[in-house]
Amino acid sequence: MPTEYAEVARAETERGELVLRTRREESAPEVLELRANGVFVMDTAETSTERALAAAALDLVDGPASVLVGGLGLGFTMREVLADPRVERCTVVELEQALVDWMRDGTIPHGPQVLADERLTVVVNDVALAFAEAGEVSYDLVLLDVDNGPGYLVHDENAELYRVPFLTAVRRVTRQALVVWSADTSAELEAALGEVFDDVRAVPYPVQLGARAETYWLYVARVAQENAAT
Ligand SMILES: C[S@@+](CC[C@H](N)C(=O)[O-])C[C@H]1O[C@@H](n2cnc3c(N)ncnc32)[C@H](O)[C@@H]1O
Repeated sequence: MPTEYAEVARAETERGELVLRTRREESAPEVLELRANGVFVMDTAETSTERALAAAALDLVDGPASVLVGGLGLGFTMREVLADPRVERCTVVELEQALVDWMRDGTIPHGPQVLADERLTVVVNDVALAFAEAGEVSYDLVLLDVDNGPGYLVHDENAELYRVPFLTAVRRVTRQALVVWSADTSAELEAALGEVFDDVRAVPYPVQLGARAETYWLYVARVAQENAAT
């Protein structure tokens, strides 16, 4: 049986088109797939690293009362954050209004239930602007999964999100740690994080994508306690 696709929703954005579709392959359950500007963003078949992004970060810190998640996607990182009872406040910053709408109106079936959590605030904005405007607000943890990592960008403008000036803006509002998801290793990202944070580690996450074995990466950057913002 050839792979079958069925479009679920489509939106035109300033950055191109955003498409949500189902994918059906022989002897595999149907999955939901998100594409932006013609590029695969993610699907519901393999979400272990999206969840690991949250789990690894939450394990690192004593009291993750306030968490910021950059990039809603299909909501797996956010859902894992909200599953932790220590989290009192979670802010998700997402670029695409249409994606938030699809999550709210059930076009993405698990969306309404996750968005109903009272601890959650969803902000439609570019993370670059959200951090520039963050003011005195601060977060125990910041999780960034807004693009595929510096080597495989969906949106070229996101290159700045892996560089020192943006990471410095993130550091200003981060009390304990930042974790960044990346599809590949990046010495450049590791060096930039090293300039801004006190301790940086690249953690590999092997995943099986159908017949293909891949390794995704989490970059964990910590703030030394003596330097932590209050
Ligand atoms: C790979 S998905 C995130 C997946 C998510 N971790 C999950 O568990 O489903 C990346 C998301 O970031 C959003 N995004 C891309 N660039 C952004 C930016 N500059 N600011 C905010 N969100 C952005 C995309 O629209 C997409 O929803």
